[in-house]
Amino acid sequence: MTPPTKPTKPTTPRTFRIAAIPADGVGAEVVAAGRAVLDALAQDSAGRFSFAWEEFPWGCGHYERTGRMMDDDGLERLRAFDAIYFGAVGWPTVPDHISLWGLRLAICQSFDQWANVRPVRFLPGVPSPLRAADDHDLDWVVVRENSEGEYAGLGGRNLSGRGPGGEVAVQSALFTEVGCERIMRFAFGLARTRARKKVSSVTKSNAQQYGMVLWDEVFRRVAADYPDVETESVLVDAMSAKFVLRPQDLSVVVASNLNADILSDLGSALAGSLGLAASANLNPERRFPSMFEPVHGSAPDIAGKGWANPIGAVGSAALMLDHLGLPDQAARLEQAIAAATTARTLTRDLGGTASTTDVTTALIDAL
Ligand code: NAI
Ligand code: MG
Repeated sequence: MTPPTKPTKPTTPRTFRIAAIPADGVGAEVVAAGRAVLDALAQDSAGRFSFAWEEFPWGCGHYERTGRMMDDDGLERLRAFDAIYFGAVGWPTVPDHISLWGLRLAICQSFDQWANVRPVRFLPGVPSPLRAADDHDLDWVVVRENSEGEYAGLGGRNLSGRGPGGEVAVQSALFTEVGCERIMRFAFGLARTRARKKVSSVTKSNAQQYGMVLWDEVFRRVAADYPDVETESVLVDAMSAKFVLRPQDLSVVVASNLNADILSDLGSALAGSLGLAASANLNPERRFPSMFEPVHGSAPDIAGKGWANPIGAVGSAALMLDHLGLPDQAARLEQAIAAATTARTLTRDLGGTASTTDVTTALIDAL
């Protein structure tokens, strides 16, 4: 799965400088797993490429020590890296809107990572609650607008002077023609690289008559430039039903920030677990480093137990290799993931008994 951006030509031998930000909870466990798999791949490359890691201790622990989710010069330091490998942010001791805005969204928005690519892969050996999964080869990609929409951060709170119970809040969604058009062109470009050339656009334009109607209009305009790609426009509630009932009709699903966030969790749950889902936060122009992270959060309920499924983080590493111009290595990682699940080396979220380390070892052996 190659996102349609210009890959950097890897010169031989090439050392990729990667900033690792494990952050909170299982983030540390799955990033360690991903690093071990990537280093095994590099070791096997006969010196063709290697990874120079620098790890940043940012996250909720850092916030409790310093009052900041990341260092003041954090973004400046991250800028020099070829890519960012991210775990998950959030812990019960810090309000979620502070931890998310202070680290992950700060990086995504400052580095204009406007395309969030989230493949939904149905792996061999992983039982899906979706019955159709047994008769079809299912995989689709959610392309999430990652810079505006419902997560534009526009709004405010006021009137607390009215006393307890009297405060108001406004949270506005921002839709620009520029933002809509670039994510849609990205989705069409991605669709052209896939067997099924189809883009499904998701909105709630019946209820949200300004932003989402603008989205629909831009979609029709952009679609005209891609006559070889099939299209459909579906409301988000209907699309969530379609994920369950007609998943074989899906190839590339493009949606606003919030809708795509929700749909990608649904997709990965249908594929077996949130622990399987990978994502790439891309700055397609490559003016900034892109960031690769599993879709799941810090999973406080299982953190520290050694149960975290590392496949989402390793799948994100495959997306990173693609982005770094190593598509053959990305394919090797994907094959290793399929080999591990085929052999039923599955963590508890998938009904197995394997630990994070067991799966990591199985992945490295499969390479
Ligand atoms: P979550 O994704 O952490 O957990 C949801 C469920 O999925 C839990 O039952 C958990 O055990 C399971 N799960 C998640 N990752 C798994 C893995 N690798 N292996 C096995 N099972 C796994 O979502 P939740 O509980 O809503 O949020 C927890 C914290 O994470 C919050 O602070 C939230 O803000 C944050 N969060 C951060 C994200 C990010 O950094 N990108 C994304 C989503 C949530
Ligand atoms: Mg999410």
